[in-house]
Amino acid sequence: MARVYNFAAGPATLPLEVLEEAQKELLDYENSGMSVMEMSHRSKLYQQILAQAEQDLRTILSIPNNYQVLFLQGGGHLQFSMIPLNLMKNDKADYILSGHWSKKAYEEGKKYGDCQIIASSEDVGFMRIPDLSSLKIRPDADYVYFCDNNTLYGTKFKTYPKTANIPLVSDMSSCFLSEEVDVSQFGLIFAGAQKNVGPAGVTIVIIRDDLIQEPKWFTPTMLQYQVHVKSHSLYNTPPTYGIYICGKVFQWILKTGGLKVRSLYNQKKAKLLYDYLDQSTYYKAPVEKESRSIMNVLFSTGKEERDIIFASEASQAGLVNLKGHRLTGGLRASIYNAMTIEGVEALIEFMEEFSKKHMKDANEE
Ligand SMILES: Cc1ncc(COP(=O)(O)O)c(C=O)c1O
Repeated sequence: MARVYNFAAGPATLPLEVLEEAQKELLDYENSGMSVMEMSHRSKLYQQILAQAEQDLRTILSIPNNYQVLFLQGGGHLQFSMIPLNLMKNDKADYILSGHWSKKAYEEGKKYGDCQIIASSEDVGFMRIPDLSSLKIRPDADYVYFCDNNTLYGTKFKTYPKTANIPLVSDMSSCFLSEEVDVSQFGLIFAGAQKNVGPAGVTIVIIRDDLIQEPKWFTPTMLQYQVHVKSHSLYNTPPTYGIYICGKVFQWILKTGGLKVRSLYNQKKAKLLYDYLDQSTYYKAPVEKESRSIMNVLFSTGKEERDIIFASEASQAGLVNLKGHRLTGGLRASIYNAMTIEGVEALIEFMEEFSKKHMKDANEE
């Protein structure tokens, strides 16, 4: 078996144990004589999978009882619409722009109401988290929206916006279950599964009870949180296999010590890489130190053509998907939950060799 170290931003690497378990159960899940893929979502066996996944997620995050957990579809993109459609009562929402995804959410939100930008770091190319010290949140805003970890720009909020009694909505797509989070600070949290917790096709929403309300009158039934809450994520056929894999990842997180252990492990991985970058005279890390993400680490050789060579040679060495996003260029190592310390060490080793090989070219430029 030749598994690579996959540094993709998502869909991303999954724990090997989870894949192996799924492989074992692929053809015959618990003596049912069929794969989970072939199983009715209304069957008792599948309902157990779904209920267990929800229960385990609740345990991992200590989700309070006044929050509902939904397993939906449509990715982060559909949440950009579902949030304003369902949460806007006064037709007003305040957005914090920290990158591509919050900007897209804001653009989508504007279609449904009066959306205002209350902080932004666009002026510095999103290379740091916006200043939150003097947020002018409107007292009648329906919610304040932000994106916790900015996948493209490699930044992460270290403190959350203080919104008093205005519901705080967070896109946690690229940091979900990577650290401990106090869910009670939020009105709504959402995350696409395809980075930290499972395959593409599952979107997890955690929503506080008081925000499950009548949506705008024209909201399609499928886009109403209240409908999915009432039917316990079984309003239509859910992404059954994807949820099953998420459930396995939740069990893996619990078995390996929960979010405390995950968080320490993730910090250790990121520190290894950032420490290496900081002492290097060859590589550059463009993100302001205080804003650095521990999930997506941006760096570059300082020259676009060499970044391309780097990504290509790394790939040949079994370190794949290191090319930066097309909007930012450079290189990016996404080191989500399932990336191992060995993977990060292998990357650093490769970086060191590459820099030695190319240092001369860089000096001659
Ligand atoms: C932070 C964040 N939000 C939203 C999205 C969009 O998610 P999707 O492709 O699932 O719609 C992404 C995708 O990478 C993301 O990283």
